[in-house]
Amino acid sequence: MIPEKMQDALNDQINAELHSSYVYLAIAAWAEDRNLDGMANWMKIQAQEEMVHAMKFWHHITERGGRVTLTPIKEVTNEFESPLEAFEAAYKHEQYISDRINKLQDLCNELGDHPARGILQWFLDEQIEEEATADGWVQKLRMTKDHPHGIFMLDKELAARTFVYPPTALAE
Ligand code: FEO
Repeated sequence: MIPEKMQDALNDQINAELHSSYVYLAIAAWAEDRNLDGMANWMKIQAQEEMVHAMKFWHHITERGGRVTLTPIKEVTNEFESPLEAFEAAYKHEQYISDRINKLQDLCNELGDHPARGILQWFLDEQIEEEATADGWVQKLRMTKDHPHGIFMLDKELAARTFVYPPTALAE
C-alpha cells in the first residue's frame, strides 16, 4: 500500500505533469499562429510526452492500491516575444519540474518508501534529458540572434521530431 503522504505528493505531481503538457500546447499554439510549424510540432510532441509522464505516476499510484485524484490545471503563458523566449520558458519550466522530482525523492527517503524509488529514479534520469534538450534549443536559438533565416533552418529541424515514446514507458 502506498503511504498517504506519497499518494498525495504523486497526485500533485500528476497535476504538474498535466500542467506541463498544457504549457507546451500553449507554446505550440503560439508557434502555429506564426507559421512556425516545426516548432509547433516539437511542442505538441513534448505535450504528449508530458501526458505519458502523468500516466506513469497514475499507474504507480493505482498499482499500489492508492487513488488518483485530479485537481484544476493552473493558467499558462500564451504570449512570447520570440521562439527564443518560448524555449527559455520551456527550459525554466523543466528546471522547476526537476526541483519537484528532487523533492519527491527527499520524501521517498523520509518515508522509507522503497517501492517509489524505481519510478523516481526514472524521472531523475528523464529530467536530465528534458533539461539538456530544452537548453540545447535555447543555445541554438541564441546563435541565430533572431535572424529569420536561422529560425527557418531551426524550424525545419524541429519539424523532424516524431513521437517515439516506448509503450514500456508506462511500466516501472
Ligand atoms: Fe514531465 Fe518535462 O517533465
